[in-house]
Amino acid sequence: MMKYITAASAGFVLLAVSSGSAWADAAAGKGAFDAKGCGECHYTDGPAKEKTIEDQLAKKGPELWYAGSKFQKDWLSAWLIDPKPIRPLKFNSLTEDNPADHPKLAGDEAASVTDFLMSLTSDAVEAGKVKPKKNPKGRQIFTKKMPCSGCHQYVGRKKKLTGGRSGPSLVEAGVRLNPDWILAYMLKPEVFKPVKMMPVFTGLLSDKDMLNVSRYVANFKPKK
Ligand code: HEC
Ligand code: HEC
Repeated sequence: MMKYITAASAGFVLLAVSSGSAWADAAAGKGAFDAKGCGECHYTDGPAKEKTIEDQLAKKGPELWYAGSKFQKDWLSAWLIDPKPIRPLKFNSLTEDNPADHPKLAGDEAASVTDFLMSLTSDAVEAGKVKPKKNPKGRQIFTKKMPCSGCHQYVGRKKKLTGGRSGPSLVEAGVRLNPDWILAYMLKPEVFKPVKMMPVFTGLLSDKDMLNVSRYVANFKPKK
C-alpha cells in the first residue's frame, strides 16, 4: 500500500483537485487492478525496471508506470472494456500474431482502473508542447527520411493501411496517445524504454524534427 501511494502521489494531487472523489476512485481502481491479476503482466511503479534484454523478454506485458502520461483517458476506459490488438504481433515476438486475448473489464471496474492508471504519471513529459497537426515535414520524416513506417502501421494515402508490423500500430495513435508523451518518448527513450526494441533517433533528428514527427503521429485520427 505504501509503495502505491509513493508512486502515484503526484498524479493524485492533481486528480483530487479536479474531482473530490477521484482519490477514492483511484484507490478502488488499484484494488480492482490487483484483484483482476493485472499486476501479473504489468508493473505500475516507476522508474523503469528493465536493464537487460532478458528483463525485457521476461515481461508479459507493457509497463504501465507512466500510463497517465502516455494514454488519453477516454481511449483507455473504452479499451479496457473492449481491448483491440495494439501490437500486430504478440508481445515480445517477431513471428507470432497477437492472440487478441487481452482480459476485459466491466464498465464500472474499467472506470476505476482508468482513474488509477491515469494517476500514474512521469515528470519527464512536458505538458502543452505538441499540438497535433497535419504536418508535411513530419510526414516526410515518417514515410521517407526515417524508417518509422517500416515498423509501424498507419493509414496512408487513399485510406490504405500501410507500414510494418514489428512495432505497435500507430493507426489512430492520436486518439490513444498523449501527444506530449510521443515527443517525450522520442527525446528521452531511456526514461520509458531503457532496453531498446526501437532504434533511437536522438542525434539523427533535430529537436525541431522530433516535434514535427510527433505532431504528425499525434494527428493520426479516424478518417472521415
Ligand atoms: C496475461 C498477461 C496480461 C494480463 C493479466 C493483463 N494484461 Fe494488459 N496487456 C498485456 C499485453 C501482452 C498487452 C499488449 C497488448 C497489445 O499490444 O495489443 C497489454 C496491454 C495493456 C495496456 C496497453 C499498454 C500499452 O502500452 O500498449 C493496458 C492499459 C493494459 N494492458 C491494462 C491491463 C489491465 C488493467 C489488466 C487487468 C484487467 C491487464 N492489462 C491484464 C498483457 C496482460
Ligand atoms: C526497427 C523498427 C522501428 C522503427 C524504425 C521505428 N519504431 Fe517506433 N517502435 C518500435 C517498437 C518495437 C516499439 C515498441 C517500443 C518498445 O517496446 O521498445 C515502438 C514504439 C513507438 C511508439 C510508441 C507506441 C506505443 O503505443 O507504445 C511511437 C510513438 C513510435 N514508436 C514512433 C516512431 C517514429 C516516429 C519512428 C521514426 C522516427 C519510429 N517509431 C521508428 C519499432 C520501430
